[in-house]
Amino acid sequence: MLPQKPGPIGIFDSGYGGLTILKKIKEILPDYDYLYLGDNARTPYGTRSFEIVYKFTLQAVERLFQEGCHLVILACNTASAKALRSIQRHNLPSLDPDRRVLGVIHPTIENLDQITQSKHIGILATPGTVLSQSYPLEIAKLFPEIQVTSEACPMWVPLVEYREADKEGADYFVKQHINNILNQDWQIDTLILGCTHYPILLPKIKRYSPDYIQIISQGEYVANSLKDYLTRHPKMEAKCTKGGSCTYYTTECPEKFMESASLFLNEEIVVKPITLD
Ligand code: DGL
Repeated sequence: MLPQKPGPIGIFDSGYGGLTILKKIKEILPDYDYLYLGDNARTPYGTRSFEIVYKFTLQAVERLFQEGCHLVILACNTASAKALRSIQRHNLPSLDPDRRVLGVIHPTIENLDQITQSKHIGILATPGTVLSQSYPLEIAKLFPEIQVTSEACPMWVPLVEYREADKEGADYFVKQHINNILNQDWQIDTLILGCTHYPILLPKIKRYSPDYIQIISQGEYVANSLKDYLTRHPKMEAKCTKGGSCTYYTTECPEKFMESASLFLNEEIVVKPITLD
């Protein structure tokens, strides 16, 4: 039986990447309580099959519900691409039809027509997100006139997870994928960072992109979309507690999480270990 009393907003990612989203959410909605869950022991998800990402993501969502969350944000594009729809359709009705799970892809693209001038955009994402075709399919539904080119960047998540993002070796992989995508379509004027880890590579992504390219990090879009969602859904809003706290859970070792999380958050945090199965 799931707890019925109000609880924190759950934020889930395969690892640290979701912290880039959480940071923006906390800036825009500082009053709520948050519970962040990073499945660091099983990261990366981006190179895993649909079935595995769905299974792992469902385990995390169930756990966040058990911990008292009524609203969970999948702050991970791979999980949003491969698991969100299935969880919403097949699992929520039996778990608790009044709880909600939201993703990061729709909030990122909903105002895209106001951002691109050329109507040619590029998506940089994990192999899993690219293979799922979620971005081109979702964009085609809203803006059929926009041309979408995707580029899988399998090394970018490990570079971030292993704290190599600001090292020289990372330059090679960043330059390679920026060149690849722009060579595929020279009319691209907007690049979407379709993985929540990628904002950590932003200085290098900017360095290797021409000046006229706009680079979209998702955090602000997701945070504004959540704010709008809570305004439009007062019943759900009432189930989200407001104490301005944030608790962190990791499936890996808490000390390691604490050390790496400082890269993303610039603050002291308390981390608890958990297991998912
Ligand atoms: N941060 C996740 C995303 O936005 C993926 C990282 C991973 O491959 O686990 O896609």
